[in-house]
Amino acid sequence: MNRTDAKKRVAKLREEISRHDHLYHVLDRPEISDAEYDRLLRELAALEAAYPDLATPDSPTRRVGAPPRDDLPKVPHVKPMLSLESVTDEADAREFDRRVRKGLETDEVLYAVEPKFDGLSVELVYEDGVLARAATRGDGATGEEVTPNIRTIRTVPLRLRGARLPRTVAIRGEAIMPLEAFRKLNRWMTEREQPAFANPRNAAAGSLRQLDSRITAGRPLAFYAYEIMAIEGGDAPATHGAELELLSSWGLLVDAHRTTCRAIDEAIAFHASLAVKRDSLPFEIDGVVVQIDDKTARGRLGVRSRSPRWAIAFKFEARKEITIVEDIVVQVGRTGKLTPVALLRPVDVGGVTVSRATLHNAGEVAKKDIRVGDTVRIERAGDVIPAIVERIPRKGEKRRGAFRMPDACPVCGARVAEDGAYHFCTGGPSCPMQLRRGIEHYASKGALDVDGLGAKTVAAMVERGLVRSIADLYRLDEAALLELDGFAEKSAANLVSALRAAKQVPLERFLYALGIRNVGEHVASLLAGHYGTLDAVMEAAEDDLLEIHEIGPEAASSVSGFFAEKRTRALVAELRSLGVDVLPAPRRAGPRPLAGKTFVFTGTLEELSRDEAERLVKSLGGRAASSVSAKTSYVVAGVEAGSKLEKARRLGVTILSEKEFRKLVGNN
Ligand code: IVH
Repeated sequence: MNRTDAKKRVAKLREEISRHDHLYHVLDRPEISDAEYDRLLRELAALEAAYPDLATPDSPTRRVGAPPRDDLPKVPHVKPMLSLESVTDEADAREFDRRVRKGLETDEVLYAVEPKFDGLSVELVYEDGVLARAATRGDGATGEEVTPNIRTIRTVPLRLRGARLPRTVAIRGEAIMPLEAFRKLNRWMTEREQPAFANPRNAAAGSLRQLDSRITAGRPLAFYAYEIMAIEGGDAPATHGAELELLSSWGLLVDAHRTTCRAIDEAIAFHASLAVKRDSLPFEIDGVVVQIDDKTARGRLGVRSRSPRWAIAFKFEARKEITIVEDIVVQVGRTGKLTPVALLRPVDVGGVTVSRATLHNAGEVAKKDIRVGDTVRIERAGDVIPAIVERIPRKGEKRRGAFRMPDACPVCGARVAEDGAYHFCTGGPSCPMQLRRGIEHYASKGALDVDGLGAKTVAAMVERGLVRSIADLYRLDEAALLELDGFAEKSAANLVSALRAAKQVPLERFLYALGIRNVGEHVASLLAGHYGTLDAVMEAAEDDLLEIHEIGPEAASSVSGFFAEKRTRALVAELRSLGVDVLPAPRRAGPRPLAGKTFVFTGTLEELSRDEAERLVKSLGGRAASSVSAKTSYVVAGVEAGSKLEKARRLGVTILSEKEFRKLVGNN
């Protein structure tokens, strides 16, 4: 293809891809399969790599994130980003309405009422239809520039749709993390023993304000547009409703839960009905925004220093509460991890009684400085475990001593060991709590999925000494189960046959069921797909594990460490002798021409992003490392390569140019 043809094709592909982005992410009405979409994107990336001068900032290929920056530069907003006066009860909403009518000297007011999204406020500036800049609200006057991060959000068009676009337009909206993504992210963080986010708002802010926008790219944020802040070379609509229509026609996501009200009573009713729907929405909202629909009327009322007189945030009952820490206890998890948990004086938080909150680890307790007797603010988001947001100091309070992790496991008394930010009971399965949690996990949904083996039953079995290891589960008979409270002949027979049926278990479920640290369902399925059989996984060396795309050093080290343990091998042998049959998985691995080879990239690559290059290496069975050693197979030197290149020369490591690298991996 010559350059002219390439240019045409690139333009066509960009238009196609952005149309499909819009159909999928904004309209929720996809027309093509994910695979077809990926093909279009790959074709575009290949053309942009072949003709670098055709690359543009609004290309869909730019959604993958850019290399990390040193800081987020401060930028002034086009216009101050105001906030809203908040009210929480009906009487205050009526008072607002009274002031509005008085100020406008009329009883005919139309209100636009819509959800108040619980995320962070962002300003997008489009120049000639192209996304030029994005900034967080900051202090209202200046924000942080987060353009590369915002580009990764699929519901933000990189180019506005439609003809007759304004020369410049500043659009305000909310960046949020949908609840499902939030839960998934927290599960992912917890699996890696990192502290979870307290709520989707923190998760959205934490994800958006990353110096490395490639991290943002991996976090599925959404953006809802709700205001045109400034416009040049075009006309601003006369009403809020028309404004939202215009934003939507430009391809931005505008939420459908909105209405107009002729009287404040209607707005109050809408607030109440949305409060009921709140828990079934896919994202968090914390109230409704009530604002005058007509812009001219808004102008007549004007703004105060920080908020307009023509709008209020009519908030829902808070899911935050204040209570007292009555005790801090230490819980033992299935991997032996010790988690401090605050026992709270029970309070109602948005309709749910809360009496405990996790404190994650000793560092977290120290950082928030939480002690028994303290007054604290707690928060519940979605159906998530409540978190302590902060301590509220009180005048003249006499505080207890600081919390300390015990030296011995509170359940079995075994020695406690420290590993990074966490403490662990070293008792292994001889700790009754580790055993209990381990068995619960073994029988849980994503694992062996054994019906009738819930937490209560497991606790009773362990307490009675019926099971001392996972293997004992298969030795249970009906007579033994009948000793336990709540078992009758039928239920005992059912559990025994459920356990028998679960003896045939797919490899990935079995790997997950074993409860290896850092191995969640996803990692388990990667391992199964890569190695195919349990024996192959058991023999895998740490270096070999690291070559699997998406398996990081923590998971690699726990897997190889786990299977190196004598007691693991004994357990597996015992399970097999009891008839457990781990079914091999179809191998997903492709050809692995780079197996055993380690690559280090240095300097800036011109045709590929660092991420793409590393992914290529991994997909071919090789490994990408960050520092050069004598074991490094190749150093790929881009523009302005520095000390790593020197080190490679010193150690005699083979040095490749980007071109040579691409030839080696067949990407040219
Ligand atoms: S209108 C003049 N509409 O709530 C103010 N704000 O203090 C224009 N928010 O920081 C804001 N959802 O980030 C508006 N549908 C919505 C909103 C919304 C969330 C946020 C906004 C602002 C805060 C109010």
